[in-house]
Amino acid sequence: MDPDSTTTVEQKDEIEAIEIDLLLDGIYRRYGYDFRKYASASIRRRIWKFAEQEKLATISAVQEAVLHEPSMMDRFVLSLTVNVTTMFRDPAFFLALRTEVIPILKTYPMIRIWDAGCATGEEAYSMAIVLKEEGIYDRCRIYATDMNEDVLRKAKTGIFPLSHMKEFTDNYIQSGGKNSFSEYYTAKYDYAIINQELRQNIIFAQHNLVTDKSFNEFNLVLIRNVLIYFNEELRGKVLDLLHESMASFGILALGKRESLKFSRLESAYEELDSAMKLYKRCA
Ligand SMILES: C[S@@+](CC[C@H](N)C(=O)[O-])C[C@H]1O[C@@H](n2cnc3c(N)ncnc32)[C@H](O)[C@@H]1O
Repeated sequence: MDPDSTTTVEQKDEIEAIEIDLLLDGIYRRYGYDFRKYASASIRRRIWKFAEQEKLATISAVQEAVLHEPSMMDRFVLSLTVNVTTMFRDPAFFLALRTEVIPILKTYPMIRIWDAGCATGEEAYSMAIVLKEEGIYDRCRIYATDMNEDVLRKAKTGIFPLSHMKEFTDNYIQSGGKNSFSEYYTAKYDYAIINQELRQNIIFAQHNLVTDKSFNEFNLVLIRNVLIYFNEELRGKVLDLLHESMASFGILALGKRESLKFSRLESAYEELDSAMKLYKRCA
């Protein structure tokens, strides 16, 4: 008898859910990457996209391939995470940083900033430019972290396609940039190399928000377009980690897609900007 003919849609969904659980459990045990509490609809879509790319017919086949071949796992991590980013992404966010956050940072002798989920580094370099223009870059250290080593390798080079400069420049202008954006890079062939000066106070390092611990205390923590990929429980856990890593009166910058509303930390922060979700720790 053809087993398919007796398998209902509900049963197929249940089998798929079991396969996804087994795959994510296996990856956690084999490699330490923990995707078990990522938002389920998006993780499911991405697993199937990966299966198609690798010409694997089932999620169980993905499990076998990924567990046995570390190079397959590298590709899997890349396809499971969204690494899209740009310089001065959401220019209004950087404008709000300039007006609401920089004046607070200026009162500190030394400023530690954590850019969590920095992808290929554009956000950290944008931050460096803002700090430079505001005259406090020399007092700042930006710790830019991501779980993905591949994107970090790119971030560290500070080299971006020249074709991206038009978009970066437009964003920079809208974000309240004070100079000519072209002063911040050197064009060579098809690439733009970010000035060494902007790179020297940024420390790029691997850090997994799900499995790694707090590693310092920060005056400003940026985490944009990262929490959206987690389920509610994991979002809460990661926000706790960021809170543990926050200095007194530190600033939490979530960006326009996230919020502290309904989180258990809501009362521990004062809202500085309701649109860009900038918060200041109350004590
Ligand atoms: C869409 S990018 C956001 C980049 C930048 N923050 C921005 O807003 O343009 C999301 C990044 O989060 C990273 N990420 C996802 N899960 C993570 C985790 N558990 N720990 C650290 N980084 C993670 C991904 O690797 C990816 O580079």
